[in-house]
Amino acid sequence: MTSHRPMAFVTRLLPEPGPSLLGEVFDLQGNLEDRPIMPWEILAGVPGASAIISTLADRIDAAVLAAAGAQLRVVSNFAVGFDNIDVAAATERGVLVTTTPDVLTEATAELTWALILAAARRVLEGDALVRSGKFTGWSPSLLLGKELTGGILGIAGMGRIGSAVARRAAGFGMRVLYTRRSGPLPPEAIPAGAQWDFATDLHGLLVSSDVLSLHVPLRPDTRHLIGAQELAAMKPDAILINAARGPVVDEAALLASLRRGHLFAAGLDVYENEPQIAPGLEGLPNVVLLPHVGSATVATRRKMAELTARNAIGGVCGLPTVHAVNRPPS
Ligand code: GLV
Repeated sequence: MTSHRPMAFVTRLLPEPGPSLLGEVFDLQGNLEDRPIMPWEILAGVPGASAIISTLADRIDAAVLAAAGAQLRVVSNFAVGFDNIDVAAATERGVLVTTTPDVLTEATAELTWALILAAARRVLEGDALVRSGKFTGWSPSLLLGKELTGGILGIAGMGRIGSAVARRAAGFGMRVLYTRRSGPLPPEAIPAGAQWDFATDLHGLLVSSDVLSLHVPLRPDTRHLIGAQELAAMKPDAILINAARGPVVDEAALLASLRRGHLFAAGLDVYENEPQIAPGLEGLPNVVLLPHVGSATVATRRKMAELTARNAIGGVCGLPTVHAVNRPPS
């Protein structure tokens, strides 16, 4: 029997309550398993879809949007970033693109601090030493790290996540210096008593930061924001953290810089050619490598799944509450 419900094409099984909520409105099709989908499966499966539910690992380009057809109303991304979607092509076709802001801010900020602390205090090296059975007892010179207290935390991109990372800096006795595309934050956005200073340009941030944490979205102007020159401008014992998008950093340049001993450490949750990493990075003891898990807590993934479903439903039903990143002409 043909279903009269709109079809939603799902690129990968989402946590509950995503599937249950979507199932109340849509005929769910696509990849209902927790495995990556192939690009050809997306192209073959989207024709007739009113909604596409995608993850950040799925490329939703003009060809996918065209293959879906004129009934497509919304692409609902299970992520706050949306660089995997051709938003201009979607807008041109009258298709809304929605994301999951806010619900993942705190989890991503927590993960950023996990990277900062692990990199500064050589947590992985210590863990490996103990597991290897080579820990022979306390030593005054064992695994000396970098002290954070009194240092400057540089935040490139003082949006929702950058601000959440900055809020936690007070707990570690760090001052905050930041860049922000739209200029300094209004005073009311800065917590009482916090020392957050605006850097007028990236260079000012690079030369002053003891820890530099990246929180910009991936856009043409932020691709390789941190390359060889920028790394060279950083303090030789600084720490670079990237929990934003891999291509924001020139990974080969980062590898070269670390090999030269320029930078104390790096903490990465994202990679330029995810899931591959620049060969050689895995051999460096002062790099913390996480598998893109910024928002990966049980609570946050549930909230993201719910929001992704509500965005898709809202997008198809024309509700005004969807978190859209574009405004297609109606
Ligand atoms: C994660 O990287 C996201 O964009 O949500």
